[in-house]
Amino acid sequence: MSDADIVFQSYGRSCNNIVFFEDFYSIFMSKSHDVREMFKNTNMEAQRALLRSGILWLVMHSRGMPDTKIKALGKSHSRGEMNINPMYYSLWLDALMETLARHDPKFSKELELTWRRTLKPSIDLIQSMY
Ligand code: HEM
Repeated sequence: MSDADIVFQSYGRSCNNIVFFEDFYSIFMSKSHDVREMFKNTNMEAQRALLRSGILWLVMHSRGMPDTKIKALGKSHSRGEMNINPMYYSLWLDALMETLARHDPKFSKELELTWRRTLKPSIDLIQSMY
């Protein structure tokens, strides 16, 4: 199985439980006051649903899907729009790994490295558009 398939299956074991996305945002926000501030006026119920698709776009991009959705994220998170400084993506990715560790029964250190390696090109592209 390719790395992209391994990650796709791991996400499949995790993303059907809405608690996954609640846990993600509480872990992500626990990491930084700045992050908490950015979401203070956000409808988090809608945001959890948006993130569910957003992560899927990263996973599908790694499986060869065109980069249209990733570029749209790069644009919306860029300086001129939501102004998300590239430094926050490592916290975001750490939060995702901690959330997967809680929800994917097959999570392991090796699977974490596979996830990180697989999402890197998409996240690099988003950051490069800042
Ligand atoms: C909004 C995904 C990283 C902060 C969104 C939206 C999606 C999304 C799908 C909905 C709007 C849109 O489609 O553009 C992602 C993905 C990320 C990521 C997949 C990782 C690659 C980050 C990071 C931050 C952040 C690192 C920093 C704190 C926000 C904020 C909003 C947002 C503040 C708007 C919330 C609102 O509407 O009030 N994100 N995001 N995102 N994201 Fe991200």
